[in-house]
Amino acid sequence: MTVRRYLVTALLVGSSCLAVACSKSAPDQQGSERKSLAGGEGATCVAPVRTDALDAPEKHAWDLFLAAVHPAKDPKVARGEPDCTKPLGAPGTTSVWETWRLARTEVFLDDGAEPPAWDDMSLPTGYLGTTPDSSLQAGEKPGQTHMRFDPEEDQSIFVDHGGIGETRMNKATYAFIKENCLWSFDGLSRYSKAVFDEKKPPINFPVDSQEVKAVWIEFTPDDLKAGRQKSYYHIVHAGKTYGMTSFHILTKDTPNWFWATFHHRETPDNPDEVKSKFPLPDRARNTVWANYELGGTQVDFTTPIGSPTVLSDYYIEYDFTKSSCITCHASAHGHPEPARGPDGKLVRTPNGGIAAAREGPLQTTALGVPNASAFMKNGKPYFIQTDFLWSIPFRAREERNPPPQRCLS
Ligand code: HEC
Repeated sequence: MTVRRYLVTALLVGSSCLAVACSKSAPDQQGSERKSLAGGEGATCVAPVRTDALDAPEKHAWDLFLAAVHPAKDPKVARGEPDCTKPLGAPGTTSVWETWRLARTEVFLDDGAEPPAWDDMSLPTGYLGTTPDSSLQAGEKPGQTHMRFDPEEDQSIFVDHGGIGETRMNKATYAFIKENCLWSFDGLSRYSKAVFDEKKPPINFPVDSQEVKAVWIEFTPDDLKAGRQKSYYHIVHAGKTYGMTSFHILTKDTPNWFWATFHHRETPDNPDEVKSKFPLPDRARNTVWANYELGGTQVDFTTPIGSPTVLSDYYIEYDFTKSSCITCHASAHGHPEPARGPDGKLVRTPNGGIAAAREGPLQTTALGVPNASAFMKNGKPYFIQTDFLWSIPFRAREERNPPPQRCLS
């Protein structure tokens, strides 16, 4: 069954994780410590260890989460980097992931043009907000920092359906998209054709690629009076207050990516979630992040005995929680020869969508291994997998102007 409504919708380890430093960590400690030179007592960042993706998936998910939500440096100075001098959950700070590039406005531009350099801040990146300060009184505005979210309809705010989200990508993912001209539908098609013609290797993102998808809920005046927003990472925008409720994480730590999802503890029960028994990491205690729970992880299509794996979030996969991240994302593909009209423009559906985007494997709530035949045409492999990233075929637009010359070779 295909889902209708759609979705209109690190290798951080690096060299800082010296063998000694890692082995010193207590077994239940999260990740390895990256002591900042300038950092005060205890102000450190988590450095996820890539091999944990398979060896200790729940620990790894928490490490990735705490690294992503760590206070960021000023993005105008060092975009997408943690500020290890600040402790996790410091009131008034912006999380690292929010300084990554926003897929909708900063990567896949409306005119299909090449987006600017990673640290360019000239495109709309979202709105300001902040980590809550529990000392604030109800209704009182917290000190504004750089926190961002995407308030466009059908993007990051949950209303009554899933398939939404605020998608952001880290520098490695962005660099790969730039390098391979994958920011437009045409660019993806050209690359797909080159793979089909065996002139380019399959799309294969670097191992330090990461993407996230967040969803927020709006608080009612009664919620605000009761101080409900204080347990959420939240934002005040245009007179309304929103709390971050759900958070998907996707990292290239394993070839078919590492999948994890988190949600606020007040999230209604997801019947398809197996409650995690992994203890709250020590460093999250007494911070706003202690209110978030691991919804689960996924590293394969099936269990070792061949049962399909399921992973979903109550809000992001609202009404289709019996689904599988890895299976649906495996279908994400490029079309090597999308139909074009006499004017050379992509053929459109009656509602204006790109007709070719409907061919090949579709978004699916099927579970288990992908269906190889959906990638074939005339008995031969044809549609080219985008290495599990749906945001490319889903968000990339048609080029209005010719791309840089390097994209045509
Ligand atoms: C039924 C299909 C489907 C399922 C199931 C699904 N997704 Fe997605 N996902 C999409 C589509 C389509 C997009 C592109 C739209 C966007 O960027 O928001 C997307 C985007 C994303 C992104 C942004 C990165 C990208 O380029 O794809 C992340 C991260 C993500 N999903 C994580 C997850 C996780 C984690 C799960 C499981 C808990 C999951 N998804 C389940 C269809 C699905």
